[in-house]
Formats: sequence, structure tokens, C-alpha cells
Amino acid sequence: MKIAIIGTGNIGGALANGFVKAGHEILLGVRNVNDFKGKNLLGIKNISAYTISEASASADVILIAAVPQAVADIVKQLGNVQNKVIIDTMNSVRVKPEPFSNTTEAIQKLSGCKHVVKCFNCTGAENIANPIYNGKGIDMFVASDSAHAREIATQLSKDIGFNNIYNFGGSDKFNLLEQFALCWINLAMMQGYGRGIAFNLESRSF
Ligand SMILES: NC(=O)c1ccc[n+]([C@@H]2O[C@H](COP(=O)([O-])OP(=O)(O)OC[C@H]3O[C@@H](n4cnc5c(N)ncnc54)[C@H](OP(=O)(O)O)[C@@H]3O)[C@@H](O)[C@H]2O)c1
Repeated sequence: MKIAIIGTGNIGGALANGFVKAGHEILLGVRNVNDFKGKNLLGIKNISAYTISEASASADVILIAAVPQAVADIVKQLGNVQNKVIIDTMNSVRVKPEPFSNTTEAIQKLSGCKHVVKCFNCTGAENIANPIYNGKGIDMFVASDSAHAREIATQLSKDIGFNNIYNFGGSDKFNLLEQFALCWINLAMMQGYGRGIAFNLESRSF
């Protein structure tokens, strides 16, 4: 797939690395092609940098890993994305993209895209860079109203090493998925368990 990544920091950079290793082509969509966080990614085969509009126009999938307050500005530059897939990795637990209650809702309403999905938001960047614990991939959770968008996010999660990918529900669960991320942040940072922790769902038959 041709994947545009907008926001090339901890999360965008980790995903760019993982996706190219899985055979995808990455188009970084940046504000300044000469100076952006993660510029060292340009040394990797199949990663190149463009303006946000150029990257969006050439990609099948657009992944946004910027900051909530930039959402409206970024969406304006995406062009016609009605039938593309947009993956939102962001959390607005600290800053809300007013007047919306979370970033994914903001992207869905502002872009007119029919296939917006929230994914990769509920664990730390180190786990995105390497999702393997004790020889096995950890779990990932996706929320979307679009089955197509969930399928793409599920495939990309598996491509970079996540094991079980769970459907977290539709757009009515975007806020809950951000709260789930806040649970990870609470345990990792506030309660002191460290960033080397991950959620796995156990199941059994009765
Ligand atoms: N870090 C984590 O462990 C983690 C885990 C899960 C989810 N998240 C979420 O993922 C998102 C990104 O986090 P991060 O840690 O990767 O952030 P980060 O390292 O600070 O990177 C932020 C990126 O956003 C870009 N950006 C900022 N304003 C922009 C604008 N107006 N237009 C275009 N791009 C803009 C920056 O571009 P420049 O290079 O031009 O400055 C930078 O590449 C956040 O919403 C965060 O809540 C983070």
C-alpha cells in the first residue's frame, strides 16, 4: 500500500519503520520538507517526504499522528479523501480538538471521509516500534463505522507484528478508546509500571 503519514514523531516514525519493513511505501506529509521531526527516516528505502497535500493525493491510506490542535489545519490540506482510508492514532485526553470531543470524530466530520478508523492510539510508541512480548505479538484495538477501514487497520497492525486485533466498536466508541489509552498512560507513567507494559485480552470457553 501507499501510506501517507502526517506527524512523523514518536508514533509516525515507529509506524513508518514498521510499514516499510512489511513492504509498504511511505509518503511522509510534512509542514517543512527540509526540517521536520523524524527527518532521519529519509535514509530508509521507500520513505520519502512531500507536502501534506501531495502525500495525501498520492496515497491509498492516510495515517495521522500529529497533535489534536492541528487536526483542522491538516484536514484542510488533505484534498478529496471521501473514499480513502484515514487512520487516526491520536489521543485528545489533554487537549480537545474543539468543538469536537476527540480527534477521530473531528477528522470524520471535517474531512467527509467515509472510512475513518482509530487505531495505534492505546499503547506506547515503544510498543508500536516493537509489539513482541515473550515471543508473541501484543493485542491492538480498532474503532470505526467502516468495515473497510477496520480491515485495513487490522491488516497493517498484523503487518507490523500485532497478534490479535479487536473490533472496539463504531464512532460511539472513539472516546472510550481514548480512555483506554489513558488507562495505559496511568499504569505506565502515573502508577510507575513503566512503558514496557501492554494489554492482552485473555479468553476461554466455558
Ligand atoms: N508517544 C506515544 O507513546 C503515543 C502513544 C499513542 C498515541 N500517541 C498520540 O499520537 C500523537 C503523536 O504523538 P507523538 O508522541 O508521536 O508526537 P511527537 O513526537 O511530538 O510528533 C508530533 C508530530 O506532529 C507534527 N505536527 C504538529 N503540528 C502539526 C501541524 N500543525 N501540521 C502538521 N504536523 C504537525 C510534528 O511535525 P514537525 O516535525 O513539523 O514538528 C511532529 O511530526 C499524539 O496525539 C499522541 O497523543 C502517542
